[in-house]
Amino acid sequence: MSKITVVGSGGWGTAIAVMTSKHGNEVTLFSVFEEEIEQIKKDRENKKLLPGVAIPENIMLTSDLSCVQSADFIVLAVPSFAVRSTCKKLAPYIDKGAIIVNIAKGLEEDSLKRLSQVIEEELPQCHIAIMSGPSHAEEVARGIPTTNVVSSKDKDIAEKVQDCFMNDTFRLYTNDDLIGAELGGSLKNVIALAAGIVDGMGFGDNTKAALMTRGITEMVRLGVAIGAKSETFAGLTGFGDLIVTCTSIHSRNRRCGILIGKGMNVADALKEIGMTVEGYRTSKAAYTLAKKANVEMPIMQKAYEVLYENKNPKIAIAELMTRTKKHETEDLWIK
Ligand SMILES: NC(=O)c1ccc[n+]([C@@H]2O[C@H](COP(=O)([O-])OP(=O)(O)OC[C@H]3O[C@@H](n4cnc5c(N)ncnc54)[C@H](O)[C@@H]3O)[C@@H](O)[C@H]2O)c1
Repeated sequence: MSKITVVGSGGWGTAIAVMTSKHGNEVTLFSVFEEEIEQIKKDRENKKLLPGVAIPENIMLTSDLSCVQSADFIVLAVPSFAVRSTCKKLAPYIDKGAIIVNIAKGLEEDSLKRLSQVIEEELPQCHIAIMSGPSHAEEVARGIPTTNVVSSKDKDIAEKVQDCFMNDTFRLYTNDDLIGAELGGSLKNVIALAAGIVDGMGFGDNTKAALMTRGITEMVRLGVAIGAKSETFAGLTGFGDLIVTCTSIHSRNRRCGILIGKGMNVADALKEIGMTVEGYRTSKAAYTLAKKANVEMPIMQKAYEVLYENKNPKIAIAELMTRTKKHETEDLWIK
């Protein structure tokens, strides 16, 4: 049995708390927002972010930061923009040698850092792993068979996380390509937003398949340029997560895209979803990172222009379709 503290009682944090509590662990679910915890305590359900899932009585609910003390695993389940500030708040309470498992997906907007880099800067006394892959909170919480990847610079740490979090409905693979795993999980949200936009515009399956396939080509291109392994993008944290996010109605990124594709302006669409839409901020980070790394990412660029520069999606698609002709496998990774 392990002692697990999940930081962030949103949809994903609640789902991981529910799942791990059912497999013999001592689980605490924490939020900096006292009212969020009070609501879950009252209903034994996260009515807003994970409705219909009972929160077992053995999960401790708290907004007291000291709950991370003496935890074997501290799961970070806050939106990417809040990872640094959350680590700063937790730092005084965390034991040296604690294992942080980040499950947020995104890049830091201004620094363009991966979240494991942000955590390493704020919590240098800890071991760091990330968990990523095709996993909707709504399904994990209900015990629907799911596979994910745990990645860390330290193989022993990845295996410890695998041993603790893997069970008969949640299968975990290890992968030592931390850059690839983090980048895949972050960038796919931008493609999911774009996939939602083309769905909302009424385009068909052909368009979405094109977007996903050429989208992953761009993800690999950027990944390889900054040190990732191309094969990671063919796995669960790359193509696996891309498939689930671009095709499911559970995806907030895709749902936000659908609203934009139907003509809603970006700010209103974000407000309407009302929850974490990581692809929005990540599109800006990806666009900037691609420019910095001198990597061509036409779909990411058009997504950025639609989301931040008010470009009409119809014009964006037309521009993508009329780019100069190319060879499909011109990228090194496929050779
Ligand atoms: N929902 C999913 O199925 C899912 C699956 C895999 C990964 N993720 C990733 O997990 C992360 C969290 O997503 P979510 O769906 O749980 O989001 P959410 O909007 O449901 O909840 C986020 C939670 O984070 C906390 N939080 C919000 N703002 C905060 C702040 N400023 N400071 C501290 N804590 C704050 C709150 O407890 C909030 O409930 C995202 O990066 C997302 O991409 C989500």
